[in-house]
Amino acid sequence: MNRTASSLGKDLVGLEHLSAQQLLTILDTAEPFKEISERRIKKVPVLRGKTIVNLFFEPSTRTRVSFEFAEKRLSADTVNISASGSSVVKGETLVDTARNLEAMKIDMVVIRHGASGAARFLAERIPSNVVNAGDGRHEHPTQALLDLLTIRDNFGRIEGLKVCIVGDILHSRVARSNIYGLLKLGAEVAVCGPPTLLPRGIEQLGVTVFKRIEEAIAWADVLNVLRLQLERMQAGFLPSLREYNQVWGVTSRRLEEAEKEILILHPGPMNRGVEIDSDVADGPHSVILDQVTNGVAVRMAVLYLLAGGEPERAEDAKQGGEA
Ligand code: CP
Repeated sequence: MNRTASSLGKDLVGLEHLSAQQLLTILDTAEPFKEISERRIKKVPVLRGKTIVNLFFEPSTRTRVSFEFAEKRLSADTVNISASGSSVVKGETLVDTARNLEAMKIDMVVIRHGASGAARFLAERIPSNVVNAGDGRHEHPTQALLDLLTIRDNFGRIEGLKVCIVGDILHSRVARSNIYGLLKLGAEVAVCGPPTLLPRGIEQLGVTVFKRIEEAIAWADVLNVLRLQLERMQAGFLPSLREYNQVWGVTSRRLEEAEKEILILHPGPMNRGVEIDSDVADGPHSVILDQVTNGVAVRMAVLYLLAGGEPERAEDAKQGGEA
């Protein structure tokens, strides 16, 4: 494996510094990989012989499981480590943990961590490829990539679309990665949420700010509804969850009043009845489970490309080749 010659560089830490062409390369590489998950035997030898460690220091269902499926479907050998089951609870540092894993001759690390910058910190200290599976409030690049793929699947394009990210922008790594990715691919991007949950100066990223959810719905082709990250909030951000739903919730009544088609995304996990009502989450405009399905293909594409796989050979690779 060539760790430096990939079209993405050594690591995927965020979308901020990727070019539009690199983003499109990942999305285009994910397309042929979608079909592998539809097969009876969901396995190709693309990453045979590679060892990947999934290092999850924060809870996760979708990201952790879909990375593991992506790795297994590409025939990599995988190991899952959580903070609670590791020597981190005895006080071992992140870099010592990673160096000890390196000593066992690994090829890639997928990391989720509560500290913004943890993925970059690790990428600069170990020779293995590092993939950021969400670091603090910084970025969640593969989530944004699967969001981009899902939007493109539905509209056939991203350029020119109006996408509004709704809710808890302040605590959201998903919002940051979405903003970077959508703007690079030519979408118009807006955010909408309570002033206490909008980062100061967010407009400087090139986004419009809507003060009312009704205005956002009237404007947007796509709503990406974010989870209220209650675990990262101290008191004072919100009067109550009930009031949040009344003022900011994406409800079927609000969508009906807008009298337009609008695509609904949510990265999960959802607070049903808070940021999104169940009839919207499970309704005809929701692509929330399509996002989850696309997550496996996107993560396959990222792993394949970081392993040195050539984008134009992804179709051949899934028929039996190796990266
Ligand atoms: N979207 C997302 O990151 O979900 P998980 O926390 O379950 O991985």
